[in-house]
Amino acid sequence: MRANNFNKESDLWITIRSTTDYKHGDPSLLKMNRAHLFIEKPAMKVKIKDLTSKKILDVGCGSGEECTLLEKKGATDITGIDIAAKLIKEAQRCYPQHKFYTMNVKNMSFEDNTFDFVYSSLMMHYLKDWNNALKEINRVMKPGSTFLFSTLHPTRWSGERQGDTLLMGFQYPSKENKLKIFGDYLNKKAINDVGIRQINMTSYIRPLSDMFRELVKANFEVIDIYEPKATTETKIYDQGYHEINQRIPDFIIFEAKKK
Ligand SMILES: C[S@@+](CC[C@H](N)C(=O)[O-])C[C@H]1O[C@@H](n2cnc3c(N)ncnc32)[C@H](O)[C@@H]1O
Repeated sequence: MRANNFNKESDLWITIRSTTDYKHGDPSLLKMNRAHLFIEKPAMKVKIKDLTSKKILDVGCGSGEECTLLEKKGATDITGIDIAAKLIKEAQRCYPQHKFYTMNVKNMSFEDNTFDFVYSSLMMHYLKDWNNALKEINRVMKPGSTFLFSTLHPTRWSGERQGDTLLMGFQYPSKENKLKIFGDYLNKKAINDVGIRQINMTSYIRPLSDMFRELVKANFEVIDIYEPKATTETKIYDQGYHEINQRIPDFIIFEAKKK
C-alpha cells in the first residue's frame, strides 16, 4: 500500500514537521511544512473545543506532533494510530505520556463506543474509499461525540496545471476557438502531485457532495464545514502564498457528530 511511503520516508517527514521557525528555518523544508504551519493547524486549533477529561483518538497521527495542540486544549488522554510503524515509534519516543499503535484506520482494535473525540489531520485523502474507514471511526466513537478532520479541498485540487498556471473553468466555443475545458471538479480522481514529492503518495480528490454523502451514510451528522484562509502571520513568511490562500482554499475541515 502506498501509505507506507510515509514509513519509508519517515526521517524526512519527521524533519519537515519539526521545521517550524519560519524566520530562520531551512527554506526548502519550510516550504514542505508551510500548509501545516500557516493554514491547516491554526484552523484545526480554532475548531477544537475544550478537551478536558475527554478520551481522544488521533487517526493518522504520524509522528505525534499534534499531541501538543491537543494538550493545549486540555487533553491528557490521547491515543494515536497510524499505518506507518516508524512514525508510531517516533511518537512513542516523543510523547511517552500518550498511547500510540500501528494500525490501519479501516480495522482498529478498539472496543465500540470508546472515544469522546476523534481527530484526524490530513489523512482522509489517502483513502480511495471512505466507507470502511468512516464506519470504523463511527464504531469506536461514543454516541453524540465529535469527529473533526481536515482533508484536501476539492476546488483547489481539481484544477488543470499548464506550466506554472492552475486552471479551472472553460472557454466557450466561437468562430475562432473550439470549446476548451480546464480541470474537473465533479469526478473523483487520483492525483500524485500534492505536497511532498519525495513521499510519493496518491491522493484521492472527491467533490464536496461525495464527502457529505459518505459521512451521512456512515451515521454522522455534519455540524460544520470550514474552509480556512491562511493566517495573517503568513504574510511575513510569503506574501504570495498568503494572497493565494485568501481566495483559493487548500483545505476543508469537517466537524461531524456520531448520531
Ligand atoms: C499527511 S500525514 C499527517 C500526519 C499528522 N496527522 C500530521 O498532520 O502531522 C498522513 C498520515 O496518514 C497516515 N495514513 C495514511 N493512510 C492510513 C491508514 N489507512 N490508516 C492509518 N493511517 C494512515 C500516513 O501514514 C501519515 O502518517
